[in-house]
Amino acid sequence: MQAKILVAIPVFDAVLERLREHFDVEACGESAITERDELVARLQGKAGIFVAGTPRIDAALLDACPDLRAVCSMAVGFNNIDLAACTARRVLVSNAPGVLTETTADFGFALMMATARRIAESEHFLRAGQWTEWRYDLFAGADVHRATLGVLGMGRIGQAIARRGALGFGMPVIYHNRSRLDAGVEQQLGARWVDKPTLLREADHLVIVVPYSAESHHLIGAAELALMKPGATLTNVARGGVVDDAALAQALRERRIAAAGLDVFEGEPALHPDLLTVPNVVLTPHIASASLPTRRAMADLAADNLIAALGNGRNAGRPPT
Ligand code: DGY
Repeated sequence: MQAKILVAIPVFDAVLERLREHFDVEACGESAITERDELVARLQGKAGIFVAGTPRIDAALLDACPDLRAVCSMAVGFNNIDLAACTARRVLVSNAPGVLTETTADFGFALMMATARRIAESEHFLRAGQWTEWRYDLFAGADVHRATLGVLGMGRIGQAIARRGALGFGMPVIYHNRSRLDAGVEQQLGARWVDKPTLLREADHLVIVVPYSAESHHLIGAAELALMKPGATLTNVARGGVVDDAALAQALRERRIAAAGLDVFEGEPALHPDLLTVPNVVLTPHIASASLPTRRAMADLAADNLIAALGNGRNAGRPPT
């Protein structure tokens, strides 16, 4: 008998078809399952769940769904999954690293450029019919080429962004990360490790690519923003909770930094209301990895992981804890 799984988020038809070759699949339909009660009800008797950055998988959910043996996410970030709770219950967890690195780096760099060069703000102005003349200072922003790129979090995506800045735009790169890169990699990227205050003080364009955890919660708040240059920009393609959105909105309103580009938000899809009222921020709906080929590769990898975890009758029961 095929194992039963729940696909809790909308996904490509072809990926669903492939999963159906291996499992008895229940799919969520048009929208992701976000309500806890519905999730628990639909997970009864299911051995696996296919997710992304939502829904939250925690101890209470696992205890309410004792048949669950594998949680497979098509996202690289897994802050929605309580790993300790899964490990304690011997539930396998997988994510989808690697396949989205370059696409996310493209977007991080594009968002940083849009932020520095005020592309969204000026487009809104034009669409609102407010453009009446060419002016020397009309949406004059900051240069990107040869400006100092600061990368907070130098994992795969951080390095791919650093490479774009150093090789493509002649940017000196500074970075902060818990562990330093090998000297050879630093040399290749022309990147220099600095402590966090130095990163904040020296970066013209700060890009945040650090995973979310209890340690990185509000890593950038009022005190950190106060260290940044008044002309600096901040771009976040990591996770919303890394930045204190209220403090950022205030810093933007008071022009303590020039502008921000945000693809992720604490509590998304809801946004801190203050972010919607400041003009000098570019807001996008968590789409950094959203090229079609990459989203397909992420989904395929998650499907592979689910098949490896549960396929062919393996893992045929959660062992007693
Ligand atoms: C990821 O893979 O973590 C992206 O942010 C999409 O959730």
